[in-house]
This record gives sequence, structure tokens and C-alpha cells, in this order.
Amino acid sequence: MSAVSRFARKSMVVTGAAQGIGKQVAIDAAGEGARVTLVDRSPLVETVAAEIAASGGQAVSFVADLETWESNLGAMKTAHKAYGAIDVLVTNVGGAIWMKPFQHFDEQQIAAEVQRSLFPTLWGCRAALPHMLEQGRGAIVNVSSVATKGVNRVPYSAAKAAVNGLTAALAFELGTKNIRVNAVAPGGTTAPPRAVLRNASAPNDEERAWGKEVVAQTIESSHMKRYGLLREMSAAILFLASDAASYITGTVLPVGGGDQG
Ligand SMILES: NC(=O)c1ccc[n+]([C@@H]2O[C@H](COP(=O)([O-])OP(=O)(O)OC[C@H]3O[C@@H](n4cnc5c(N)ncnc54)[C@H](O)[C@@H]3O)[C@@H](O)[C@H]2O)c1
Repeated sequence: MSAVSRFARKSMVVTGAAQGIGKQVAIDAAGEGARVTLVDRSPLVETVAAEIAASGGQAVSFVADLETWESNLGAMKTAHKAYGAIDVLVTNVGGAIWMKPFQHFDEQQIAAEVQRSLFPTLWGCRAALPHMLEQGRGAIVNVSSVATKGVNRVPYSAAKAAVNGLTAALAFELGTKNIRVNAVAPGGTTAPPRAVLRNASAPNDEERAWGKEVVAQTIESSHMKRYGLLREMSAAILFLASDAASYITGTVLPVGGGDQG
């Protein structure tokens, strides 16, 4: 347990918590006393929750595909049933499925990118809201991306720009309700190889080359010329989730080594 416990006994829902940024956030928050609800469509999330519990934290898990409204309702019900409140929601599900110039995306792929990177956030905020309004408190941190200005992933960029828009508008609407809504826009982030792939089909040579263009653009756009670390993303997300950010709402915080998105 960390010496600083910003989240002692707070109920926090983290989506996309089986790996990557979401997993890091859940572990770090639990280490600071949060009672976490980890949601993911991969059953691997149960292992992460068990690891948190084994190291003395409080965690429950909920396996569901958050692209549907009903699953988001179920996730919030699970958290509320377990802990009697939802103090913090971190909507982290998302991620570009394909990386290629826009003219190579077909209709289904464009729709799939928006389903993956906008709807879990839109549904998640809406599903948590009645709980937060009833409690009279809450903090939401949506995970966006600096790839709102990035090459070879236009549908994903558009979805994340919509996440920024919903963050600004919802924060404005909730300003006097003691519910803050912010977003963190990560830059490229180094992580262990993904156990859950964003796209199960192996890329061909052309797709590999387009993927390399994304990596090159990401490093070039960062003033620091490097990828970020999982803990650097988690630190920014948990700052905005914490009471230390009590007068910050409606903000998108880029965490991209200077890349503003
Ligand atoms: N990794 C990066 O370089 C980077 C950069 C900028 C922004 N981001 C954003 O940060 C967030 C996390 O990124 P990551 O790279 O850690 O993710 P990841 O792809 O490694 O993991 C995403 C997790 O979300 C889960 N998930 C995906 N779709 C889901 C769904 N419909 N329902 C429930 N669970 C679902 C997956 O099973 C997985 O566990 C995403 O929103 C991503 O767009 C990541």
C-alpha cells in the first residue's frame, strides 16, 4: 500500500482493465485504497482482480462487451452493488483497430472504430450518471488520445475527438452538481505485448508499413521523442480522478511528451 492514499475507500470503475493503461490504473488506484470494479470483455480481467485482492486490495470484476448499453448498465450495477457508490469512473476502452490511410477503410471498418472508441465512453458516462447524481458527487476521467491529430487512423481520431467533445459538454452540464468530467489524451505508450489483440488478423506487408508510419509520426510529434510509460498515463488519470483536481473540469490533458494532439 502506498504512503499516499488519495482514494481510500472510494469506489472506482475502470473499463478495459485486463491489460495496458486500464490495468495499470486499476492496480495503482487499488494501491491507494480504492475499491475497484474492473470491467473488460476479456476474462483475463478476473486474473487482474484476483492479483489486486491477493496483494491486499479490494477488487471485483465484470466481464462484458461495453459496446452495448446493457453491458454498461450491468457494469455500474455491479460496482454499486459491491461498494454502494461510484465515486470515480475511468472510461478506458478504446484503441485503433486498423492503421491505414483513410481511403482504405471500408464502411464496416469505420463503424467498428467508432463502436470501439466512442460508444463505450458515451454509454459508460450515461450509465454512471444516475449513481453520481444521486450521491451528489463523482469524477469521470475519459481516456482519449493525442491521435486526434495523427496519421493512418482517421476513424479512431474522429471517435477520440468526439470523446473530447462529450467531456467538455458533460462537464459544462454537470458543473454545479459536484461531478467533474475530464479526459487524458495519452501519446504513444510502451506496454508489454498485448494478450488481447485489437485486431486478431496478422497484418500484411503494406499494413505493417502503415503501422510503422504511425510509430514514426508518434515519436516525431512528441517533443521528447519517445513513447510514454503506463505509469505516466496512470499518474495523469489518477490526478484528474483525485480531489487534488477539485477545481478542474472539462479539460483534456495531453500526456504525450509535448504532443498536444
Ligand atoms: N496504447 C497507446 O499507445 C495509446 C495511445 C493513446 C491512447 N490510448 C488509449 O488508451 C486506452 C487504452 O489503451 P491500451 O493500449 O492500454 O489498450 P489495449 O488495447 O492494450 O487494451 C484495451 C483493453 O480493453 C478491452 N476492450 C476492448 N474493447 C472492449 C469492449 N468493447 N468491451 C470491453 N472491453 C474491451 C480489451 O479486452 C483490453 O483488455 C484506449 O482508449 C486507447 O485508445 C492508447
